[in-house]
Amino acid sequence: MLNLKLVAALAGAAGLVLGVAGTAAAADGAELFKTKLCNTCHGDAGKAPIMPVYPKLAGQNAAYAAQQVKDIRDGKRTNGLSAAMKPMAAAVTDDEAQAISDYLSKQ
Ligand code: HEC
Repeated sequence: MLNLKLVAALAGAAGLVLGVAGTAAAADGAELFKTKLCNTCHGDAGKAPIMPVYPKLAGQNAAYAAQQVKDIRDGKRTNGLSAAMKPMAAAVTDDEAQAISDYLSKQ
């Protein structure tokens, strides 16, 4: 248990270092997907949305997904249930949207 916590802490620290260096690494996106609470609606790795009408994100085209996150955040995409996600997307920068989307495209 202690070891698992240590591993998680080290992974988090590594993600932080990469983030500061400005590298959109895959581990970074995985971490952001959780810290930005995306997983609370879209499920682990974007594979198991909590509602049947919420989209699965795993395997989605990275450029497309990043654009959707930014469009929902900026109020350019308002279709369907986009309003449900808008408050969460507000805390996501362009670089973070790209890092998360790169990660999701590989799931
Ligand atoms: C409160 C629930 C909720 C949270 C939290 C949430 N989303 Fe969403 N997301 C949605 C819903 C609902 C849609 C579908 C909107 C629609 O009906 O058009 C969506 C759509 C998307 C899409 C577009 C999918 C497509 O195929 O067009 C992407 C990409 C996405 N979300 C990524 C994210 C990311 C990244 C985060 C974290 C920053 C996040 N979401 C947080 C509910 C949420």
